[in-house]
Amino acid sequence: MQIRCRQFVVQDKKIGLVPTMGFLHDGHLSLVKTARLYADIVVATIFVNPAQFAPHEDFDRYPRDEKGDLAKLKMAGADIVFIPRVQDIYPPDFQTSVTVDKITGILEGISRPGHFKGVTTIVAKLFNIIRPDLAVFGMKDFQQATVLKKMVNDLDYPIKMIIASTVREKDGLAMSSRNKYFNPDQRKKAVCLHHALVSAKKMVKNDKISNPKLLKNRMIQIIKDICPTANIDYIAFTDPVTLAAMKQIKPGCICSLAVRLYKVRLIDNMKLL
Ligand code: PAJ
Repeated sequence: MQIRCRQFVVQDKKIGLVPTMGFLHDGHLSLVKTARLYADIVVATIFVNPAQFAPHEDFDRYPRDEKGDLAKLKMAGADIVFIPRVQDIYPPDFQTSVTVDKITGILEGISRPGHFKGVTTIVAKLFNIIRPDLAVFGMKDFQQATVLKKMVNDLDYPIKMIIASTVREKDGLAMSSRNKYFNPDQRKKAVCLHHALVSAKKMVKNDKISNPKLLKNRMIQIIKDICPTANIDYIAFTDPVTLAAMKQIKPGCICSLAVRLYKVRLIDNMKLL
């Protein structure tokens, strides 16, 4: 893969990278289409990265469909799909990692310790293998995108980071490979995250409410009304770059939340102002 990609560099071709864990939906494919707009060669990767799953998480049951993914990637305009094996990425004596400090210790980092270390290490490796000029990530994983941008900045990777907007189902639920864990009734109720975010945005825009506590209470109410058994992990109002909590809603504020619904942990976010 390194030799192949180096040839493109010699030919002065711009490489765009889209890392994924497979079981692709239209959200992933939108990233490929975005990369297609800016790059000569679009490389997508499929690798269910064991390093970013905790032992109790769904690594073993993470959905996979390599054949379907390859067909979808071809349709979306990918030129190369890199599907390494776990032993290629992490040989038995592997012992190096990349970590971003402060901003990984909050939000997702609290419920998923070690998760971002796994993400930054695999993405750093993919950057080193493929040496892209640009890489596209989804706003759906807002904290991940922020952490990776910080890594690129701090480690001087000469890579343009493009963060693409979240692709949603018709009812507003953010597309996710994990949505397939729901039965039809649960799936309907999963839209509660989106309803909560939309109502927070409306309260900020229309009612000029700037107190995060008021917004949070209303969001909890909406989620519980639709799905009383929902377990809310966090609802946060943060600065888009530092991820510092906002005491008052200001321009740029991102509201993000994580909710456990029927044993499936969903995340979503929305820019409020
Ligand atoms: P994965 O969950 O497969 O997501 C791959 C990319 O697709 C990420 O950048 C994610 O933010 C984006 N994505 C997911 N759902 C989306 C949606 N509904 N709309 C737009 N983009 C969406 O995120 C990972 O994999 C991994 O952590 C990875 C970065 C590949 C490292 O292993």
